[in-house]
Amino acid sequence: MSGKPKLWISRELFPEWVDPIREWADVEAATEERAYSPAELKARLADVDAAMVGLSDRIGAEEVAGNTRLKVIANLGVGYNNLDIPALTAAGIVATNTPDVLNESVADYAWALMLAAARRVAESDRFVRSGAWKGSAFTRWLGPDVHGKTLGILGMGRIGRAIARRAAGFSMPVVYHNRSQLSAELEQEVGARYVSKQALLREADFLILVVPLTPESHHSIGAAELALMKPGALLVNVARGGIVDELALIEALRGERLAGAALDVFEGEPQVRAQLLEFDNVVLSPHIASASAETRRAMAMLAIENVRAALGLGEQAGHPPTALNPEALASRRAD
Ligand code: GLV
Repeated sequence: MSGKPKLWISRELFPEWVDPIREWADVEAATEERAYSPAELKARLADVDAAMVGLSDRIGAEEVAGNTRLKVIANLGVGYNNLDIPALTAAGIVATNTPDVLNESVADYAWALMLAAARRVAESDRFVRSGAWKGSAFTRWLGPDVHGKTLGILGMGRIGRAIARRAAGFSMPVVYHNRSQLSAELEQEVGARYVSKQALLREADFLILVVPLTPESHHSIGAAELALMKPGALLVNVARGGIVDELALIEALRGERLAGAALDVFEGEPQVRAQLLEFDNVVLSPHIASASAETRRAMAMLAIENVRAALGLGEQAGHPPTALNPEALASRRAD
């Protein structure tokens, strides 16, 4: 026993990120991408002081039952629907996430998906690779213009605002819906107009989803909502799969009501419904909106700082910078 706290990292990280941690913790880091069963997660968490986990690691009361050692779970992502925060708080385990450092990269990616779906980038890439390109085709490959169209954003948190700011360069009016309306100053700064959810669905030519997945937002884009969307509109989801009722989306795509969709997230990821693969006008990607080199590093560094602080080490000892339930630390100290 070295006396250092023990940290388990469930996702593969670069050695140059992990090696410096070894100065203050005994680290066991995954060396491959894989899924863990609930029982395996429970066993892994049972004999460590800290864990850094990915968004596919679902941790709740069952996974931490009887665990008196674990102090912190640092999520490698801003969304934390994989963690049962009340259960972790009750167990005296602080949970942290990685907000802010990924806002701009996720916004870039939402735009990349929107442009790719509108201008048929993925589909034409497949066409060229297949060797099917035989000559110019003036009337093929036509997609809707993006510039000048109305951009709709559901969810106007920090990522939504970063998406909205980019619209000025494309001369796009922006409408948004959110649980609460932004201040007039913020609305002016990001150039967005608050509307009801129904008006958002009706007015947007491109609708980007950036709401967190909660019981309230689950399937909040279903058949009724899709039916309200403008014919020829395009749906982009960079939030969580469960927000969209995929079967309803498939029906809407079949009915050619929507021009297409661009999806970075899926209800049962990493499984993707076979029906979605059939549409050429659907762009699919494997949950990578934050995956720029700089941002993934920044997310890892923030998660590491959270672990250190929650273990009472480093400059922010006792104050993990992005704790989701700081009261869990306080209850532990009080014990
Ligand atoms: C990605 O989906 C994240 O929540 O960071």
